[in-house]
Amino acid sequence: MQIKNSALSLIIDASDQKELEELKLQFLGRSGKLTLTVKEIVKVPIEKRPEVGQLANEVKKVIEESIENKLSTFNFQLSTRRKESIDTTAHGIKPDIGHLHPMTQVLYEIVDIFKGIGFQAADGPEIETDHYNFEILNIPKDHPARDTQQTLYLDTQNSKVTPGEVILRTQTSSMQGRVMEKVKPPLRVIVPGKNFRYEQVDASHGFEFWQVEGFMVDENVRLTDLFGTVDYVLRKLMGDDVKLKFATTNFPFVEPGVDTYISCTVCKGRGCSFCKLSGWSEIMPAGMIHPNVLKAVGYDSQKVSGFAFAIGLSRLVNLRYQMDDLRLLTNPDMRIMEQF
Ligand code: DAH
Repeated sequence: MQIKNSALSLIIDASDQKELEELKLQFLGRSGKLTLTVKEIVKVPIEKRPEVGQLANEVKKVIEESIENKLSTFNFQLSTRRKESIDTTAHGIKPDIGHLHPMTQVLYEIVDIFKGIGFQAADGPEIETDHYNFEILNIPKDHPARDTQQTLYLDTQNSKVTPGEVILRTQTSSMQGRVMEKVKPPLRVIVPGKNFRYEQVDASHGFEFWQVEGFMVDENVRLTDLFGTVDYVLRKLMGDDVKLKFATTNFPFVEPGVDTYISCTVCKGRGCSFCKLSGWSEIMPAGMIHPNVLKAVGYDSQKVSGFAFAIGLSRLVNLRYQMDDLRLLTNPDMRIMEQF
């Protein structure tokens, strides 16, 4: 019994296969403890020998079994450890971390360029009032210029708001009034943002599109300041070899109004669907801020003047990367975005 107990506790404590083999020898080997005890059976009175012999056999069996059991737990641990093991030489899987959308990349660049010439970036609401989107910009209720801005109205039936007063902004120019009402000149501001119109979608028009609005007001700001600024910014963005062209246009909140065209980079001026076969792409409407707007925000239009412009951001990104369709920028096929 003593042999059995000491053998079992040693087996339980054994920490590896080698130790178990030693224990086996120590108890069951030729000169092992149990073997020697069995040999002494001759000293036992004859009638007791079968009983002692049976006991010795049982002890032997128990020791053998527990050695086997312990051995199998070692083997099990070994095999699971092998499964968990890490092959440090195997090639890893590169995680897909993504990158900024080309629109965001170009936007950050634009903000940086403008910061370099003293402009600050501002942000404003996409849900806008008729007042800031139109009225304050010299576009009263019955003005025909409203027809060009296919406006999306919010359903305000169950609110106290005057019907038609709350809209999705159609232009970031809506921020001119919001900023100028609060800040006295001199000021130089850009406002990047999304606009919404009920548009027929095609290669160069979207119902949701980005603009970077900008305006500067100070004493003696002239049209040539506008030209110089536009020229500087577009060359920085599109490269020195890009051709620019200015033409007169009309927007109620500027006088005079100017359209900026750049040579179409998609077709290199040969004419394509993106530039409507003209070789030029309209990229940046602008103008000198109308005195009515300056007055409406509380400025003295005799003392200060300013210019304003809007960069069509989606279109600019298209032109920069020679993409011939605005819709590619929102296409969910990752193969498109992975190229940037
Ligand atoms: N807000 C005008 C539009 O989206 C574009 C525009 C024209 C903005 C002239 C300006 C500007 O700041 O001076 O149709």
